[in-house]
Amino acid sequence: MALPVTPSFEIQALLDATVDAVILIDADGIVEVFNHSAERMFGYAAAEAVGQNVSLLMTGRDRHHHDGYLERYVRTGVAHIIGTGRDVRGRRKDGHEFPAFLSVGRIADSDPPRFVGFIQDTTLRVQALAAVQRERDRANRYLEAAQTILVALDLTHRVTLINRTGSEVLGYDEDFLNGRDWIDTVVAPAEKAQVAALVDRLAERGPRSPLHCEYSIVTRAGLDRMIAWRCVVLEDGTGDATGILCSGDDVTESRKAERDARESRERMMHVSRLATMGEMATGISHELNQPLAAIANYAQAGVRLMQLPQPELADVREALGQIAGQALRAGEIIRRLRSLVKNRITEREAASINDIIEELGPIARADARANDVRIVLNLAQELPPVSVDRIQIQQVLLNLLRNSIDALAAVSAVSRQIVVQSAATEAGDITVTVTDNGTGIAPAVLDRLFMPFVTSKTDGTGLGLAISRTIMEAHKGRLDHSPQSERGASFVMTLPSGPGTNP
Ligand SMILES: Nc1ncnc2c1ncn2[C@@H]1O[C@H](COP(=O)(O)OP(=O)(O)OP(=O)(O)O)[C@@H](O)[C@H]1O
Ligand SMILES: [Mg+2]
Repeated sequence: MALPVTPSFEIQALLDATVDAVILIDADGIVEVFNHSAERMFGYAAAEAVGQNVSLLMTGRDRHHHDGYLERYVRTGVAHIIGTGRDVRGRRKDGHEFPAFLSVGRIADSDPPRFVGFIQDTTLRVQALAAVQRERDRANRYLEAAQTILVALDLTHRVTLINRTGSEVLGYDEDFLNGRDWIDTVVAPAEKAQVAALVDRLAERGPRSPLHCEYSIVTRAGLDRMIAWRCVVLEDGTGDATGILCSGDDVTESRKAERDARESRERMMHVSRLATMGEMATGISHELNQPLAAIANYAQAGVRLMQLPQPELADVREALGQIAGQALRAGEIIRRLRSLVKNRITEREAASINDIIEELGPIARADARANDVRIVLNLAQELPPVSVDRIQIQQVLLNLLRNSIDALAAVSAVSRQIVVQSAATEAGDITVTVTDNGTGIAPAVLDRLFMPFVTSKTDGTGLGLAISRTIMEAHKGRLDHSPQSERGASFVMTLPSGPGTNP
């Protein structure tokens, strides 16, 4: 056992004032000096610790191998810990363990060597680091789970952070994007200058309210995506802007749907205006021609009567009376036309849908026969009546049959067939399905079938389905394309049934 070491008065004062635990050991690991901080840290009085093997204060592997470490150093002179220090675990007298940082030095010229160890209790630091790490993990999980794109840029537009949704939408790896110029890399060419100006303005303006904007990005695959952004300024502790943080939602599909809906509404309005004007023009010319011709005739007759040497006043009065009557009739026609414009669906009657279909037979079959097409009727019995404008519903059916006949022109004449089927749904609606085994819908028109002027035919107007759908909707019904598993096309007309459906 080594001789007890008694530090000088000054050294003892120094040791006692040191916050770190200071422990001196000899070449066998026996404690020679144990300062106040060591007493507090390990719970041993100096008198208890001095003379004991220092492994008393250690845990696990270190506790069992410390003598070996010392022996190896003494034998080989190769230091593993001296001069570098490392994180270890300490063990108090009461068995409690704690994280600590240990640095060790060899006392100069000591032979056999003696060592001094400085030990810091790092519990608080380890806890703080763990808390920071937990926060960081949680923030990362939020970032990754977010359905929105999150991207942070520094003041030179370089990406400092991008979440998984962002890199997925863009098709670039997070590592690829980090550090790259956001505007150069992803913003659509036409919008680069504008977006750069916007980002700079936002950073200068500082963190008042968030800024909302929309601009397009180009994905790695070359696709344009329209993103709605919400951006805030990031600042450092002193309030200086360090960059901006933006969250973005991909609104490409919804903007397209809005645009399509608007376009289709505009086209529809145009069509219905055209249709109304067409109806009116035909109606007006036909209906007004008759009274106008009569007025002209009676006026000429009046003139001739007046030219007679002895005009018969009674005849002239008769002609003038006719003129007045016809003028009134013309006025009445105009009044009726105006009411027609106000309410285009006029004639509603309770009718059997099967009768409506069968009535079409002669016209439809003549057309079908001329094109070698077989029409098969498959009509459900005892369907409730529908309240419809018979002529308009027949017009829809004819449009569908005509489209089917057109589509069958390209297939072999032996198999050309159209099935017209009536049925009742569980919800109480009546459906009429027109199915053909023709070419099927061309992919180019599939998602715009019901839009006006969409046609795949050189001589088509592309109005048939658009007008048919308007007619069905005016009847509180629907017209839908029903996807076919086999070749051909199928359209379903749906009508509400029963008297309660009368508008
Ligand atoms: N039964 C069908 N089979 C295959 N394609 C169809 C069928 N019905 C409609 N289509 C497709 O839908 C398009 C639009 O039809 P729609 O009836 O609105 O206009 P159109 O038939 O082209 O013109 P129009 O009705 O003035 O003759 C057609 O051009 C065709 O491409
Ligand atoms: Mg058509």
